[in-house]
Amino acid sequence: LVLVVDFGAQYAQLIARRVREARVYSEIVPHTVPVEEMLARRPKAIILSGGPSSVYADGAPGIDTGVFTAGVPVFGMCYGFQLMAQGLGGEVSPTGAREYGRTGVRVSEHGTLLSDVPAEHRVWMSHGDSVTAAPEGFTVLASTDVTPVAAFEDVSRRLAGVQWHPEVLHTEHGQGVLEHFLHEIAGCRPTWTMVNIVEEQVEAIRAQVGETGRAICGLSGGVDSAVAAALVQRAIGDRLTCVFVDHGLLRKGEAEQVERDFVAATGVSLHVVDAQRRFLDALAGVSDPEEKRKTIGREFIRVFEAAEAEVLGDAAEAGEKVAFLVQGTLYPDVVESGGGAGTHNIKSHHNVGGLPDDLEFELVEPLRTLFKDEVRLVGEQLGLPAEIVWRHPFPGPGLGIRIIGEVTADRLAILREADAIAREELTAAGLDRDIWQMPVVLLADVRSVGVQGDGRTYGHPVVLRPVTSEDAMTADWARLPYEVMERISTRITNEVAEVNRVTVDITSKPPGTIEWE
Ligand code: XMP
Repeated sequence: LVLVVDFGAQYAQLIARRVREARVYSEIVPHTVPVEEMLARRPKAIILSGGPSSVYADGAPGIDTGVFTAGVPVFGMCYGFQLMAQGLGGEVSPTGAREYGRTGVRVSEHGTLLSDVPAEHRVWMSHGDSVTAAPEGFTVLASTDVTPVAAFEDVSRRLAGVQWHPEVLHTEHGQGVLEHFLHEIAGCRPTWTMVNIVEEQVEAIRAQVGETGRAICGLSGGVDSAVAAALVQRAIGDRLTCVFVDHGLLRKGEAEQVERDFVAATGVSLHVVDAQRRFLDALAGVSDPEEKRKTIGREFIRVFEAAEAEVLGDAAEAGEKVAFLVQGTLYPDVVESGGGAGTHNIKSHHNVGGLPDDLEFELVEPLRTLFKDEVRLVGEQLGLPAEIVWRHPFPGPGLGIRIIGEVTADRLAILREADAIAREELTAAGLDRDIWQMPVVLLADVRSVGVQGDGRTYGHPVVLRPVTSEDAMTADWARLPYEVMERISTRITNEVAEVNRVTVDITSKPPGTIEWE
């Protein structure tokens, strides 16, 4: 276990991911956790993240210097680097010169940390203060135009730090530097693999659910619920029932992928509710985005609960007091809601018709410690179909929020075809893993004039919204190759009669969101 101490910047999650990419398990702790508590978890190393503050600022987050003398290897990045320098008797000064963005560093001594990185390379910086003198016993490894001490190490005490952000993509050799610290300075063994995760989780699920417990899992068609369900299936077999509510707002082929391919790959027992008509009726006349979301959410809960009551009816009659509800909660959700790893909240369920009042639901969340990319690897390990494992994020309200205007069966059919073509071409161009997601949006209330053959058309536009992103919090519009856009445009306007115009959204997030509603 490596602990990443979060000083309040947005980088801690990224650092934790990079540590795991180096095959070492990591978790994030807020800097407010006392150092003794951190040490009590017997971490193999501690990483101090960057932060928004100056170490001099009033109320700047600090850390008990005991963290540096406990014999546990420590790596400081940016703010964490300055804390280490200050805490061990070095000097940090506001030099007045700031460095933001790509910056050149010069390596004067490679040491262990910077071994085999080029003497000059470019890194990502974001700081005002600088370390002007390293603490005693440390070797200075690198500098920049404005920062005399940009990296240092004391291999005998297993302490090291860099002024830059090795975790961000724009830093050259960042992963290499992190791995030198983890593997060589801290001596962490690279043993965190997906095979181990599957085995550990299967054990943990068996322990939680017990010999007779029953579990229920809602499948959305997305990767998280599919992987969570597959893990639970492997642990408890037929005592898991998956419920799939087909609300008719999925993309072309997705319901079939769940009902046929997922079942074939996992052998899971599936309870399908065809609720397409019900959702369409509920959505009739609704065009306000919030109203749509509320309607879809409300109907979904009702339908799911009814299915739940049916599935769990027998168990309840047999006098079982607890049922298990499987959810695909991921580690970023856990970190953001401030919860620690491994805490399962037990919630008393709202009244579901048909179930006894005192039936309690306990959550099973086998993905609570995992990042999205790890979930995909676990899915591959479990033999799930690639179309599910590598699926782009898709919103719960589905195509309902990609039709601007009222949602009707006809409009859904149009959008489903246009979207299928766009996805097919993106896949054919080999771009699925470069593009975060590409919503196709139907402007159902807009019409424009076109010409096709001899005839004038009066059809609808669709918008392609290809974006790149790391976490959907921010996004950039993706520069799709012209040839790919051309193929998508030609095919959609030829094959989907109601669409006579294809446009591309070139807005980043912010100010735009990824979805249009
Ligand atoms: P926005 O549009 O806010 O979307 O930039 C950010 C990410 O969240 C997805 N999204 C949703 N996912 N339920 C979901 O499960 C929703 O209601 C929802 N709305 C947006 C969106 O696809 C993108 O990945």
